[in-house]
Amino acid sequence: MSQIPQFLVDNLFTTSATTSRPHITLTWAQSLDSKIAGPGGQRVILSGPESMLMTHWMRSMHDAILIGVNTLILDNPRLQANLLPPSLNLPPPQPLILDPKLRFPITSRILNEWNTKPDQRGKTMRQPWIICGENVPTERVREVEGAGARVVLVKLDDRAHIPPSSLPSILTSLGLRSVMIEGGSRILSTFLHCPKRDDGSKLVNSVVVTVAPMFIGEGIGVVPEGEDVGLPALKTVHTEKMGKDAVMICAVE
Ligand SMILES: NC(=O)c1ccc[n+]([C@@H]2O[C@H](COP(=O)([O-])OP(=O)(O)OC[C@H]3O[C@@H](n4cnc5c(N)ncnc54)[C@H](OP(=O)(O)O)[C@@H]3O)[C@@H](O)[C@H]2O)c1
Repeated sequence: MSQIPQFLVDNLFTTSATTSRPHITLTWAQSLDSKIAGPGGQRVILSGPESMLMTHWMRSMHDAILIGVNTLILDNPRLQANLLPPSLNLPPPQPLILDPKLRFPITSRILNEWNTKPDQRGKTMRQPWIICGENVPTERVREVEGAGARVVLVKLDDRAHIPPSSLPSILTSLGLRSVMIEGGSRILSTFLHCPKRDDGSKLVNSVVVTVAPMFIGEGIGVVPEGEDVGLPALKTVHTEKMGKDAVMICAVE
Protein backbone atom coordinates (compact mmCIF):
# COMPACT_ATOMS: atom_id res chain seq x y z
CA MET A 1 0.00 0.00 0.00
CA SER A 2 2.26 2.79 -1.26
CA GLN A 3 -0.52 5.32 -1.68
CA ILE A 4 -3.65 6.39 0.22
CA PRO A 5 -6.24 3.59 0.09
CA GLN A 6 -8.89 4.74 -2.40
CA PHE A 7 -11.78 3.84 -0.10
CA LEU A 8 -10.53 6.45 2.41
CA VAL A 9 -10.31 9.11 -0.31
CA ASP A 10 -13.83 8.24 -1.51
CA ASN A 11 -15.58 7.97 1.84
CA LEU A 12 -13.85 9.82 4.68
CA PHE A 13 -14.49 13.50 4.11
CA THR A 14 -17.75 13.22 2.18
CA THR A 15 -19.88 14.50 5.10
CA SER A 16 -18.04 17.81 5.46
CA ALA A 17 -16.67 18.35 1.96
CA THR A 18 -18.76 21.44 1.41
CA THR A 19 -18.28 23.15 4.79
CA SER A 20 -15.44 25.23 6.14
CA ARG A 21 -15.88 23.82 9.67
CA PRO A 22 -13.13 21.51 10.98
CA HIS A 23 -13.79 17.86 10.17
CA ILE A 24 -13.92 15.53 13.18
CA THR A 25 -13.22 11.81 12.74
CA LEU A 26 -13.55 9.39 15.67
CA THR A 27 -11.60 6.19 15.25
CA TRP A 28 -10.65 3.12 17.22
CA ALA A 29 -9.73 -0.56 16.89
CA GLN A 30 -11.88 -3.05 18.77
CA SER A 31 -12.25 -6.76 19.40
CA LEU A 32 -15.36 -8.77 18.53
CA ASP A 33 -16.52 -8.23 22.14
CA SER A 34 -16.22 -4.42 21.73
CA LYS A 35 -13.08 -3.97 23.84
CA ILE A 36 -10.30 -1.53 23.00
CA ALA A 37 -7.82 -2.60 25.72
CA GLY A 38 -7.22 -5.35 28.25
CA PRO A 39 -7.77 -5.38 32.03
CA GLY A 40 -6.61 -2.19 33.76
CA GLY A 41 -6.17 -0.51 30.38
CA GLN A 42 -3.40 -2.86 29.29
CA ARG A 43 -2.55 -2.20 25.64
CA VAL A 44 -3.60 -4.97 23.22
CA ILE A 45 -2.41 -5.04 19.60
CA LEU A 46 -5.70 -5.35 17.74
CA SER A 47 -4.92 -4.08 14.24
CA GLY A 48 -3.06 -6.31 11.80
CA PRO A 49 -0.30 -4.82 9.60
CA GLU A 50 -2.72 -3.78 6.82
CA SER A 51 -5.17 -1.90 9.04
CA MET A 52 -2.29 -0.38 11.06
CA LEU A 53 -0.85 1.01 7.82
CA MET A 54 -4.30 2.27 6.87
CA THR A 55 -4.46 4.09 10.24
CA HIS A 56 -1.20 5.84 9.40
CA TRP A 57 -2.64 6.89 6.01
CA MET A 58 -5.67 8.20 7.83
CA ARG A 59 -3.41 10.16 10.20
CA SER A 60 -1.72 11.75 7.21
CA MET A 61 -5.13 12.87 5.87
CA HIS A 62 -5.88 14.87 9.04
CA ASP A 63 -4.17 18.00 10.34
CA ALA A 64 -4.16 16.68 13.93
CA ILE A 65 -4.36 13.47 15.98
CA LEU A 66 -6.03 13.75 19.39
CA ILE A 67 -6.01 11.44 22.42
CA GLY A 68 -7.05 11.70 26.07
CA VAL A 69 -4.38 12.05 28.73
CA ASN A 70 -5.05 8.54 30.14
CA THR A 71 -4.15 6.98 26.79
CA LEU A 72 -0.97 9.00 26.78
CA ILE A 73 -0.10 7.79 30.30
CA LEU A 74 -1.09 4.15 29.72
CA ASP A 75 0.13 3.58 26.14
CA ASN A 76 2.85 6.22 25.75
CA PRO A 77 2.19 6.35 21.97
CA ARG A 78 4.32 8.15 19.35
CA LEU A 79 1.36 9.50 17.35
CA GLN A 80 3.26 9.59 14.09
CA ALA A 81 2.59 8.40 10.55
CA ASN A 82 6.00 6.77 10.29
CA LEU A 83 4.83 3.61 8.48
CA LEU A 84 4.31 5.70 5.33
CA PRO A 85 7.03 5.95 2.67
CA PRO A 86 9.39 8.82 3.75
CA SER A 87 9.92 9.68 0.06
CA LEU A 88 6.37 11.11 -0.02
CA ASN A 89 7.43 13.92 2.37
CA LEU A 90 3.96 14.09 3.89
CA PRO A 91 3.63 16.69 6.66
CA PRO A 92 3.32 14.91 10.03
CA PRO A 93 0.02 15.37 11.88
CA GLN A 94 -0.14 17.64 14.93
CA PRO A 95 -0.44 15.66 18.22
CA LEU A 96 -3.08 17.07 20.58
CA ILE A 97 -3.72 15.82 24.12
CA LEU A 98 -6.95 16.59 26.01
CA ASP A 99 -5.66 17.01 29.54
CA PRO A 100 -7.85 19.27 31.76
CA LYS A 101 -5.59 19.13 34.84
CA LEU A 102 -2.31 19.11 32.91
CA ARG A 103 -1.25 15.70 34.19
CA PHE A 104 0.92 15.37 31.05
CA PRO A 105 4.04 13.33 31.98
CA ILE A 106 7.10 15.22 30.78
CA THR A 107 8.84 11.86 30.37
CA SER A 108 6.37 10.86 27.62
CA ARG A 109 7.70 9.54 24.35
CA ILE A 110 6.10 12.24 22.17
CA LEU A 111 7.94 14.93 24.11
CA ASN A 112 11.16 12.98 24.58
CA GLU A 113 11.47 12.33 20.83
CA TRP A 114 10.65 15.98 20.06
CA ASN A 115 13.49 17.03 22.37
CA THR A 116 16.08 14.44 21.38
CA LYS A 117 15.58 14.20 17.60
CA PRO A 118 15.67 17.81 16.35
CA ASP A 119 16.60 16.54 12.85
CA GLN A 120 13.17 14.91 12.63
CA ARG A 121 11.20 18.01 13.65
CA GLY A 122 8.73 18.95 10.94
CA LYS A 123 9.68 15.82 8.96
CA THR A 124 8.22 12.99 11.05
CA MET A 125 7.06 14.76 14.20
CA ARG A 126 5.58 17.94 15.57
CA GLN A 127 5.73 19.52 18.99
CA PRO A 128 3.05 18.04 21.30
CA TRP A 129 0.25 20.51 22.08
CA ILE A 130 -1.57 19.97 25.37
CA ILE A 131 -5.08 21.37 25.77
CA CYS A 132 -5.82 22.01 29.44
CA GLY A 133 -8.04 24.03 31.79
CA GLU A 134 -7.40 27.74 32.20
CA ASN A 135 -7.37 27.18 35.98
CA VAL A 136 -4.16 25.09 35.91
CA PRO A 137 -1.53 26.78 38.13
CA THR A 138 0.90 28.98 36.18
CA GLU A 139 3.94 27.21 37.66
CA ARG A 140 2.72 23.89 36.25
CA VAL A 141 2.09 25.44 32.82
CA ARG A 142 5.61 26.91 32.88
CA GLU A 143 7.07 23.52 33.86
CA VAL A 144 5.42 21.73 30.92
CA GLU A 145 6.27 24.52 28.47
CA GLY A 146 9.82 24.61 29.81
CA ALA A 147 10.07 20.88 29.06
CA GLY A 148 9.25 21.62 25.39
CA ALA A 149 5.48 21.15 24.91
CA ARG A 150 2.97 23.86 23.94
CA VAL A 151 0.16 24.39 26.46
CA VAL A 152 -3.20 25.70 25.23
CA LEU A 153 -5.49 26.99 27.99
CA VAL A 154 -9.26 26.60 27.48
CA LYS A 155 -12.51 26.94 29.47
CA LEU A 156 -13.67 23.73 31.18
CA ASP A 157 -17.29 22.59 31.62
CA ASP A 158 -19.03 21.96 34.96
CA ARG A 159 -17.49 18.45 35.12
CA ALA A 160 -14.03 20.02 34.79
CA HIS A 161 -13.64 18.50 31.31
CA ILE A 162 -12.89 20.07 27.97
CA PRO A 163 -16.37 20.34 26.43
CA PRO A 164 -16.46 18.38 23.15
CA SER A 165 -18.74 21.00 21.55
CA SER A 166 -15.95 23.56 21.94
CA LEU A 167 -13.34 21.48 20.09
CA PRO A 168 -14.16 22.89 16.61
CA SER A 169 -13.52 26.47 17.73
CA ILE A 170 -10.33 25.38 19.55
CA LEU A 171 -9.14 23.71 16.33
CA THR A 172 -9.96 26.79 14.27
CA SER A 173 -8.08 29.04 16.70
CA LEU A 174 -5.05 26.74 16.30
CA GLY A 175 -5.26 26.78 12.49
CA LEU A 176 -6.25 23.10 12.26
CA ARG A 177 -8.91 22.03 9.72
CA SER A 178 -9.38 18.40 10.70
CA VAL A 179 -8.74 16.06 13.62
CA MET A 180 -8.63 12.31 14.05
CA ILE A 181 -9.66 11.42 17.61
CA GLU A 182 -8.09 8.07 18.49
CA GLY A 183 -9.38 7.42 22.02
CA GLY A 184 -9.45 6.29 24.70
CA SER A 185 -12.76 5.11 25.96
CA ARG A 186 -13.77 8.24 27.94
CA ILE A 187 -12.90 10.59 25.12
CA LEU A 188 -14.75 8.46 22.53
CA SER A 189 -17.79 8.26 24.80
CA THR A 190 -17.92 11.97 25.54
CA PHE A 191 -17.71 12.87 21.83
CA LEU A 192 -20.28 10.24 20.85
CA HIS A 193 -22.68 11.58 23.48
CA CYS A 194 -22.35 15.20 22.35
CA PRO A 195 -24.27 15.46 19.06
CA LYS A 196 -23.85 19.17 18.30
CA ARG A 197 -21.23 21.89 17.95
CA ASP A 198 -21.68 25.32 19.53
CA ASP A 199 -23.11 26.50 16.18
CA GLY A 200 -25.78 23.73 16.20
CA SER A 201 -24.22 21.60 13.43
CA LYS A 202 -23.29 17.93 13.83
CA LEU A 203 -20.16 17.46 16.00
CA VAL A 204 -18.70 14.20 14.70
CA ASN A 205 -18.46 13.83 10.93
CA SER A 206 -17.02 10.33 10.53
CA VAL A 207 -16.57 7.22 12.65
CA VAL A 208 -13.98 4.70 11.47
CA VAL A 209 -13.84 1.38 13.32
CA THR A 210 -11.38 -1.45 12.80
CA VAL A 211 -12.80 -4.76 14.02
CA ALA A 212 -10.21 -7.45 14.77
CA PRO A 213 -11.24 -11.12 14.77
CA MET A 214 -10.44 -11.78 18.43
CA PHE A 215 -12.02 -11.63 21.89
CA ILE A 216 -10.42 -9.76 24.79
CA GLY A 217 -12.80 -10.73 27.61
CA GLU A 218 -12.19 -8.61 30.68
CA GLY A 219 -11.02 -5.17 29.57
CA ILE A 220 -11.90 -1.60 28.57
CA GLY A 221 -15.00 -1.20 26.38
CA VAL A 222 -15.34 1.26 23.50
CA VAL A 223 -17.37 3.38 25.92
CA PRO A 224 -17.06 3.02 29.72
CA GLU A 225 -19.54 0.71 31.49
CA GLY A 226 -22.91 2.39 32.01
CA GLU A 227 -22.36 4.94 29.23
CA ASP A 228 -23.80 2.79 26.45
CA VAL A 229 -27.19 4.55 26.58
CA GLY A 230 -27.92 7.52 24.32
CA LEU A 231 -25.32 6.70 21.69
CA PRO A 232 -26.10 8.15 18.25
CA ALA A 233 -27.45 6.20 15.28
CA LEU A 234 -24.78 5.51 12.66
CA LYS A 235 -25.12 4.93 8.95
CA THR A 236 -22.51 2.68 7.31
CA VAL A 237 -20.90 4.48 4.42
CA HIS A 238 -18.36 1.81 3.48
CA THR A 239 -16.92 -1.50 4.72
CA GLU A 240 -13.50 -2.75 3.64
CA LYS A 241 -11.59 -5.94 4.45
CA MET A 242 -7.99 -5.14 5.42
CA GLY A 243 -5.97 -8.32 5.95
CA LYS A 244 -7.63 -10.18 8.83
CA ASP A 245 -9.62 -7.08 9.95
CA ALA A 246 -12.82 -5.37 8.82
CA VAL A 247 -12.85 -1.56 8.61
CA MET A 248 -16.14 0.33 8.72
CA ILE A 249 -16.57 3.98 7.84
CA CYS A 250 -19.79 5.39 9.29
CA ALA A 251 -21.51 8.76 9.44
CA VAL A 252 -23.46 9.95 12.47
CA GLU A 253 -27.15 10.32 11.53
N1 LIG B 1 -7.94 0.24 20.66
C1 LIG B 1 -7.85 1.52 20.42
O1 LIG B 1 -8.13 1.98 19.29
C2 LIG B 1 -7.45 2.47 21.52
C3 LIG B 1 -7.08 3.78 21.17
C4 LIG B 1 -6.73 4.67 22.20
C5 LIG B 1 -6.76 4.24 23.52
N2 LIG B 1 -7.11 2.96 23.81
C6 LIG B 1 -7.15 2.51 25.21
O2 LIG B 1 -7.99 3.38 25.96
C7 LIG B 1 -7.59 3.31 27.33
C8 LIG B 1 -7.63 4.69 27.94
O3 LIG B 1 -8.96 5.15 27.94
P1 LIG B 1 -9.51 6.03 29.14
O4 LIG B 1 -10.98 6.13 28.97
O5 LIG B 1 -8.99 5.51 30.43
O6 LIG B 1 -8.80 7.44 28.94
P2 LIG B 1 -8.78 8.56 27.80
O7 LIG B 1 -10.11 8.62 27.12
O8 LIG B 1 -7.57 8.38 26.98
O9 LIG B 1 -8.55 9.88 28.69
C9 LIG B 1 -9.55 10.27 29.59
C10 LIG B 1 -9.14 11.55 30.27
O10 LIG B 1 -9.20 12.64 29.36
C11 LIG B 1 -9.49 13.82 30.06
N3 LIG B 1 -10.58 14.55 29.37
C12 LIG B 1 -10.48 15.77 28.78
N4 LIG B 1 -11.63 16.18 28.27
C13 LIG B 1 -12.49 15.18 28.50
C14 LIG B 1 -13.85 15.03 28.18
N5 LIG B 1 -14.55 15.95 27.52
N6 LIG B 1 -14.47 13.90 28.58
C15 LIG B 1 -13.77 12.94 29.23
N7 LIG B 1 -12.47 13.03 29.56
C16 LIG B 1 -11.83 14.15 29.19
C17 LIG B 1 -9.85 13.44 31.49
O11 LIG B 1 -8.68 13.72 32.26
P3 LIG B 1 -8.75 14.05 33.84
O12 LIG B 1 -9.14 12.75 34.49
O13 LIG B 1 -7.38 14.49 34.18
O14 LIG B 1 -9.81 15.10 34.02
C18 LIG B 1 -10.10 11.94 31.38
O15 LIG B 1 -9.80 11.22 32.55
C19 LIG B 1 -6.19 2.72 27.35
O16 LIG B 1 -6.28 1.43 27.91
C20 LIG B 1 -5.81 2.62 25.89
O17 LIG B 1 -5.01 1.48 25.62
C21 LIG B 1 -7.43 2.07 22.84
